[in-house]
Amino acid sequence: MSEYKTLDPTHIPLKEWHPYLIGSIIPRPIAWVTTVNREGRPNLAPFSYFNVFSSKPPIAVFSPSTSARTGQKKDTHNNLLEVPECVIHLVPYALAARMNITTGEYPPEINEIERAGLETVPSLIVRPPRIKGTPVQIEARVRDILSLGETPGAGQLVITEILLLHLETRILDEKGLPDPRKMDIIARLGEFWYARITSESLFWMKQPRNPAEVMSWAELPQDLKESRILTAADIGHLLAHRPPYVEQLATLPKPAHPDALHMQMQKLLSQDPQEAWRLYFESLQAASNTPSKPR
Ligand SMILES: Cc1cc2nc3c(=O)[nH]c(=O)nc-3n(C[C@H](O)[C@H](O)[C@H](O)COP(=O)(O)O)c2cc1C
Repeated sequence: MSEYKTLDPTHIPLKEWHPYLIGSIIPRPIAWVTTVNREGRPNLAPFSYFNVFSSKPPIAVFSPSTSARTGQKKDTHNNLLEVPECVIHLVPYALAARMNITTGEYPPEINEIERAGLETVPSLIVRPPRIKGTPVQIEARVRDILSLGETPGAGQLVITEILLLHLETRILDEKGLPDPRKMDIIARLGEFWYARITSESLFWMKQPRNPAEVMSWAELPQDLKESRILTAADIGHLLAHRPPYVEQLATLPKPAHPDALHMQMQKLLSQDPQEAWRLYFESLQAASNTPSKPR
């Protein structure tokens, strides 16, 4: 049985709790948000308490918390109270260090966009500008700001409705959809760690929509359940790709050398789980000398 360190946030000061929280719930996308105050002065800041929560209406939420250091509201929050519009950008690796510059707690009169040497283009609907060089830009209007408290660290959930989604054409695949391999987006982890989404770090996994495509744990042959070779991830792939000849499997004898067979299956699994199943089936069948082919 694994051991766990268990934390109760009610008994831990904010300064100690915060690193646990942001280090545990990872990765988090980063909303790099432009806003303007009522005079039109722009502001840019990153927020990793961010995601989308509804498709229609299309809703994005981020949270400029009450500052843990100063107890003050963030400039982004104050601007949104004056002009309830923003542009949310995802951060490409190329602009990671610039994003980091814009997190500084500059006084409101400082323009972080100029500081970081960034260029802007006008938005089509909202007043805050768009940051050049960002592959995904969301023009959004504030629907609601939900305050989770007034004490330091309390989230101020900015619930925005997405008005326009701008996608740089360079990042689109042949179907016109955003291709994660072309976006080079970064995500926030704990402490000063970040993740970079690259082709090497991606994997493809189709959702099994039809319950008949999934094998139940009870159907899984015993030697696979007890395998010393196959990992929990491998077993997951086998379960998610139920072969059509499960009933036949149950009639065949156990493999004589399960480790060797499981090793061969493992090589095929990441590419094609059905091939791994076929190998298993054919090997058991050869051992039992039954003539029938997989159906
Ligand atoms: C990657 C990253 C993510 C951040 N996420 C948040 C967040 O979700 N909420 C928050 O209040 N501050 C967050 N911060 C800190 C703010 O960016 C920082 O307080 C900034 O000064 C706020 O700018 P503003 O006062 O111009 O709005 C983050 C900083 C970085 C570098």
